[in-house]
Amino acid sequence: MKLFDVYPLFDINIVKGKGCYTYDDQGNTYLDLYGGHAVISVGHSHPHYIKRISDQVENLGFYSNSVVNRLQEEFAEKLGKASGYEDYRLFLVNSGAEANENALKLASFHTGRKKVLSFHKSFHGRTSAAVRVTDNPAIIAPVNQGMDVTFLTIGDNERLEMELKTGDYCAVIIEGILGIGGIIVPDPCFMQNLQNLCKETGTVLILDEIQSGYGRSGRFFAHQYSGIQPDLITVAKGIANGFPMGGLLIAPHFEAKYGMLGTTFGGNHLACAAGLAVLEIMEQEQLVQNAESVGNYLFQELTNMDGIKEVRGLGLMIGLEFDEPVKPIRQKLLFEHHIFTGVSGSNVIRLLPPLCLSMQQATQFIQTLKKVLAEK
Ligand SMILES: Cc1ncc(COP(=O)(O)O)c(C=O)c1O
Repeated sequence: MKLFDVYPLFDINIVKGKGCYTYDDQGNTYLDLYGGHAVISVGHSHPHYIKRISDQVENLGFYSNSVVNRLQEEFAEKLGKASGYEDYRLFLVNSGAEANENALKLASFHTGRKKVLSFHKSFHGRTSAAVRVTDNPAIIAPVNQGMDVTFLTIGDNERLEMELKTGDYCAVIIEGILGIGGIIVPDPCFMQNLQNLCKETGTVLILDEIQSGYGRSGRFFAHQYSGIQPDLITVAKGIANGFPMGGLLIAPHFEAKYGMLGTTFGGNHLACAAGLAVLEIMEQEQLVQNAESVGNYLFQELTNMDGIKEVRGLGLMIGLEFDEPVKPIRQKLLFEHHIFTGVSGSNVIRLLPPLCLSMQQATQFIQTLKKVLAEK
């Protein structure tokens, strides 16, 4: 059997990782400024992470959600403390798209309404409701087209007010920082107005923090820069450093009913052990603070660099926009200098390194990028 060919691949076989480095089967070392697509939060193969998972699997890898799982309770408590959302409740799933599916479903159950408001350039996943609220017609199959969704431009307060005041919307969904759309940070005033309008019209505000959350922005959640408190917050990616896990943080005013939401694998013992290890390492190594300080340094240095049109982002979620397609720059960084970076569209390089990136590694990237841009 061959693989179903859905990704254009680099011909590099990564077989090992340690901290911010990955290693291929040819013995090459790569500096990882991509984090496997914002997934690696605490660094590759952290010893505490390895031990937590190994110990857990020796005892119990999985049992069903029909029995008490103390690890889920421990994880929820720790996440509440780390994020500042101690009075919210947690529903655990296996991926980002699944977290958004459940958020949209819960918003609709809660309000009894059907319409959803989303934004241009947003990405929320590839499953039915999550893909329908994603602004990319190319990935929406006919079977996904049924839901009634309105897309607005971020910052368009006038249309936003007009739409929400119809009272037809169950939810607004927005990313803390738009990732795949090109690292776009929504203006705090816009976010505050959005929250006020949602409250006024009984619309559920869903913050998709799947890429921008978990310390990446230099706060636990990117929306915390705006001082807002959404009704639902979705998380995945960095939550378990590569172990498939996602979650939905739910404000106290939502009523839970048996059978409303459910999952076989979500919140399983092994996932909780991985998730707990991540929170423990983040706390011990102060990785949110590290993301802020190393991110600020990178941002400043990159802003002063010739040849880049615009630098956007917060913490260790940074977008570099160029006047021309970035493919040659990215290829040079990867194949000549062994540095992994991400992209967004054709003209933006995305930096999403592990949150433990050091100043010295950030400097290595800055010096290399300078060299690559000078050779253009
Ligand atoms: C903001 C955002 N939401 C949702 C998703 C979907 O997550 P997953 O691929 O785990 O389903 C992604 C993935 O890139 C994302 O960046």
